Amino acid sequence: MKGPKIMESRSPASRSTKGSITLVEMGRSRVVVFTGAGVSAESGLRTFRDSDGLWEEYRIEEVATPEAWSHDPVKVLRFYDMRREQVLAAEPNAAHQAIARLQEYFDVQVITQNIDDLHERAGSARVMHLHGEILKARSTVDPTLVMPMNGPSLRLGDRCPLGSQLRPHIVWFGEEVPLLPMAAAMIAQADRLIVVGTSLAVYPAAGLIHYAPDHAPVHLIDPNDVPIARRGVQHIKEKASTGMPALASSMIEGISGR
Ligand code: APR
Repeated sequence: MKGPKIMESRSPASRSTKGSITLVEMGRSRVVVFTGAGVSAESGLRTFRDSDGLWEEYRIEEVATPEAWSHDPVKVLRFYDMRREQVLAAEPNAAHQAIARLQEYFDVQVITQNIDDLHERAGSARVMHLHGEILKARSTVDPTLVMPMNGPSLRLGDRCPLGSQLRPHIVWFGEEVPLLPMAAAMIAQADRLIVVGTSLAVYPAAGLIHYAPDHAPVHLIDPNDVPIARRGVQHIKEKASTGMPALASSMIEGISGR
């Protein structure tokens, strides 16, 4: 599955002042950015497993599983209503913006575990949400029936066009991750992989990094230690809002020869 090759004339980075042939003149290189909750932490959205993380306050089994939905749907809806409210109040930070800037120079695919829309609001055009999207609702009889939310909350009695109860468009623990094969195929074709703000604790998503080809540099931006079972990963031990803009600038300088 090859992405479109975009030639030099469309790329600001390709205006070589030295007249030499640059990489972009032969087609943009493919960059996959794989993000987790840490990329949105500085936008005020709590991560899951840090010391103040969401899973310190809530039990996964009570709010984020199909069993929780069967047992106490009101509690589940309330949990996701709060997440939605916080997302709507948040703004993209410098990391989201730096990732969006990369697409002026590279063929960029964002693959995020996050359910917020901060990558899109920062301007990223190609964003895959592995674990769903908080601003969408889904039919409980036809999982392909996904729709934008009309308001800030979802209630019992809110129905899909087929008449079934709507649920949050979230991949819960114990459910299939339908976009996983597509994400793996994208990473397998990456020329560079950037991993930002994920503890790599949740499978199958965490296993995706292993699909990166051997020749592709892999960078990890996270202020904390992350168990990453792959050799040669460059760990940039910084917060996303500083690490990501710095990496983006060096990548852009690298291709434009500046
Ligand atoms: N910049 C970059 N990374 C940060 C920052 C920051 N400012 N603050 C925290 N981090 C890092 C933490 O060090 C940690 O490695 O972000 C990571 C957050 O990890 P988790 O809370 O486990 O979040 P994530 O990896 O996205 O979780 C995966 O688990 O609960 C599920 O479905 C949920 O998609 C989520 C999945």
